[in-house]
Amino acid sequence: MALLGVNIDHVATVRQARRTDEPDPVWAAVEAELGGADGITFHLREDRRHINDRDARVLKETVGVKLNMEMAIADEIVDIAADLKPEQCTLVPERREEVTTEGGLDVVRHSQRVAKAVERLREAGIVVNAFIEPDEDQLRASADVGFHGVELWTGAYAHAKSPDQIETALSDLLRGIETGQELKLEMLGGHGLTYRNIAPIAALDGFSEFNIGHSIVARACFVGMREAVTEMKRLLTLHASASAGAQARPGDGNTRAGR
Ligand code: PXP
Repeated sequence: MALLGVNIDHVATVRQARRTDEPDPVWAAVEAELGGADGITFHLREDRRHINDRDARVLKETVGVKLNMEMAIADEIVDIAADLKPEQCTLVPERREEVTTEGGLDVVRHSQRVAKAVERLREAGIVVNAFIEPDEDQLRASADVGFHGVELWTGAYAHAKSPDQIETALSDLLRGIETGQELKLEMLGGHGLTYRNIAPIAALDGFSEFNIGHSIVARACFVGMREAVTEMKRLLTLHASASAGAQARPGDGNTRAGR
């Protein structure tokens, strides 16, 4: 069964709405661990719009499960990561005007800069993954520049509006997993995954871990972080043994995309 990394950025988003000190994303991380999270993920953005340097430091001191830092390949952030030494870094594209990370990193286009960041982080003893779209060229380039693994962008599936689009997105992910496995890359998945759309993705063979943020934080507003994480873990367990490549069915509440 795939592991669950819980992204706690949006707890910090609520804090930053008032630029105060609550809710504390570090408390959220502790609650997520108690709910069964296998990892905690945070994104230290260059503009520090949610997670800040203090959060990164205290998360490193506090979190007992795997700590995964999402980050751009900017020199300042690479320096911070190499110093902080989370267990894992995930390199993502970052644009200031975006609401959240949109699409994957273009490893083919930026291969030299990416390779430099990967080398630096690997030297610091950190597992380094790329957040990419399930595209063969991106997968091959990721293996070539020395990533340990890749997190496949599941956004095309999450944003799909029709059964055909859902099916296409799932088969693209499946093909990406197969190529990644041939290249000996660890395969993770994330972006836009929710309680409603997780079932077919959880049933795909080959993902070792999912990173889920917004939907869990949203659910936590009503039931608390611990319970929200426990519920998502339950869904991952429930659907993990379903046949690989299970397709979403129109009208099936568990497979509605874009929610
Ligand atoms: N994985 C990566 C690399 C991301 O950038 C994000 C968004 O921060 C996520 C997973 C989580 O996405 P969501 O908040 O849509 O669950």
